[in-house]
Amino acid sequence: MTNSHILVHEFTYLEPRTVDEAVALLHEHGDRAKLLAGGTDLLVQLKIERLKPDVVIAIHKLPGLKGIVRADGETRLGALTTIRTIRDDRGISQDYPALAEACRAFSTTQVQMMGTVGGNLCNGSPASDSAPALIAFGAEAELIGPSGVRRVPVEDFFVGPGKTVLGRGELLTSVILPAPRPGTGSAFLKVSRVAADIAKANAAVTLVRDGDRIADCRLVYGSVAPRPMRARRAEALLIGQRFSPELVARVAQAAAQEIAPIDDVRSTAGYRRQVVAAMTQDGLNQAWAGENTNSVLHTAYSVPVLRSLLSLSKGGVEGLRTAYSSAGARYPQSANRQSPMANRQSQIANRSTPCSDIIDTPATGAPVTLRPDEKRRITLTVNGVKQTLWVAPNDLLLNVLREDLELTGAKYGCGIGECSACTVQLNGKPTLSCLVLAVAADGSEVVTVEGLQAPDGTLDPLQEAFLDHAAYQCGFCTPGMLMTAKTLLAEVAQPTEDDVRDYLKGNLCRCTGYASIIRAVMSATEREV
Ligand SMILES: Cc1cc2nc3c(=O)[nH]c(=O)nc-3n(C[C@H](O)[C@H](O)[C@H](O)COP(=O)(O)OP(=O)(O)OC[C@H]3O[C@@H](n4cnc5c(N)ncnc54)[C@H](O)[C@@H]3O)c2cc1C
Ligand code: FES
Ligand code: FES
Repeated sequence: MTNSHILVHEFTYLEPRTVDEAVALLHEHGDRAKLLAGGTDLLVQLKIERLKPDVVIAIHKLPGLKGIVRADGETRLGALTTIRTIRDDRGISQDYPALAEACRAFSTTQVQMMGTVGGNLCNGSPASDSAPALIAFGAEAELIGPSGVRRVPVEDFFVGPGKTVLGRGELLTSVILPAPRPGTGSAFLKVSRVAADIAKANAAVTLVRDGDRIADCRLVYGSVAPRPMRARRAEALLIGQRFSPELVARVAQAAAQEIAPIDDVRSTAGYRRQVVAAMTQDGLNQAWAGENTNSVLHTAYSVPVLRSLLSLSKGGVEGLRTAYSSAGARYPQSANRQSPMANRQSQIANRSTPCSDIIDTPATGAPVTLRPDEKRRITLTVNGVKQTLWVAPNDLLLNVLREDLELTGAKYGCGIGECSACTVQLNGKPTLSCLVLAVAADGSEVVTVEGLQAPDGTLDPLQEAFLDHAAYQCGFCTPGMLMTAKTLLAEVAQPTEDDVRDYLKGNLCRCTGYASIIRAVMSATEREV
């Protein structure tokens, strides 16, 4: 059994300074090399020894690959743009609401802030949440390699599980979304075991209205075939037709037949077919009503919904829809109604400082080369104090904090991104320190739970609130919860309970539950945090 608390595998760590240097290194090392962006896939795969590259090429500091740019009607997402940045971007919510919704349904706050859109596509997972939405909007991937730049529709980017069209020496630089056609509505839906998990099945729908007819549409599904797929035969049934409940029901069944699901650890093929039928029906109704007015509401099916779905015998699509409604899930009532999450999003969109990605330190100096038998001197500012440390390529930030600096507040739980007990603030963002290479964090600012209290020992108001509400349930999870909640309170002055629940959804408690913790965070907003 792999020990996920350390990274056993040894490799040479390279940090190029430009995209051209990265391409040259990739070309030189070929299959022996792996790129490192946010690390939420790669570090897990290295830890469980599914991948054993000789060389890791870190691209997180490369200039020009981050952020969202609009020009000539197109919207360009840099490959290093985080899922969180896309989720919180007002223009994405307006023009591509299903993409914003896919990013909202994507894992935890920490993973959203670490994971990049480029990593999500290049990992090649059929369960990618961004891929169906990008395909539904007709996005293209821009690749750069030794023979120059080329564009590939995202639809053709995936080859099979873990495999993409990326050739030797090629990396993804950006994803380009065309301007949506007038009258476009969209929806994204996802079913997962728990809110922060990878999809059992997901779906993105875009639909172009022409009066009471459907001028065009795309139905795209994830986790139901070896790669994200369009249900083209089902799409053909819709194009040119009058929108009607009967048509939608027929198309939902057709889509369920067209997918190619398998039984695996997350679900069964039969369940996936049923869910795809239900998601198609709901997605089409939402997209028809929505017309890209940011009216995509509660589209990720919740756990109670799932329970009802599982307890169903044979109700067909209508049975599934009834279960969905009776489980308290919300349907769009009107195009203008906003969900709590949409409200939170507008809070975020209105705040003065824009979202930045975690390691934003510009690359300076010479490219970094660190061989497995070498150590490199790095500088971290930890809890306001500059620290100089010597680290090997496979040293993790969490180990360095706990063992070298004896800051044991951040805990080792799962070691693979699933519990958030290791959360620290890295450059102001809640970050899973078990999935960060220490060398990659060189130059960063880190705050651990030990840094919350004042130098004279006075506790932070958030810590006081945790004491007052008996939210210090155990020493294991509380530090991570405090560090995550602290960032929320820095981002949103008056978070709602939904905000707190959503922000902390990745911080797992294995004992008492979350009620006291949520009360504590809410009450901390009344203090001066
Ligand atoms: C706990 C947990 C929950 C998760 N939940 C979800 C979820 O709900 N939905 C979902 O879709 N995913 C989920 N993921 C998977 C992961 O977070 C995403 O796929 C993420 O977007 C990966 O981005 P990254 O920057 O971290 O990629 P990395 O791990 O850095 O890289 C992933 C792969 O892509 C390659 N790569 C990265 N960038 C480029 C580039 N620009 N050009 C070429 N190759 C590149 C890397 O070499 C590597 O093979 C989850 C992961 C964890 C650990
Ligand atoms: S120890 Fe890092 S997420 Fe569990
Ligand atoms: S708070 Fe740690 S197990 Fe519940």
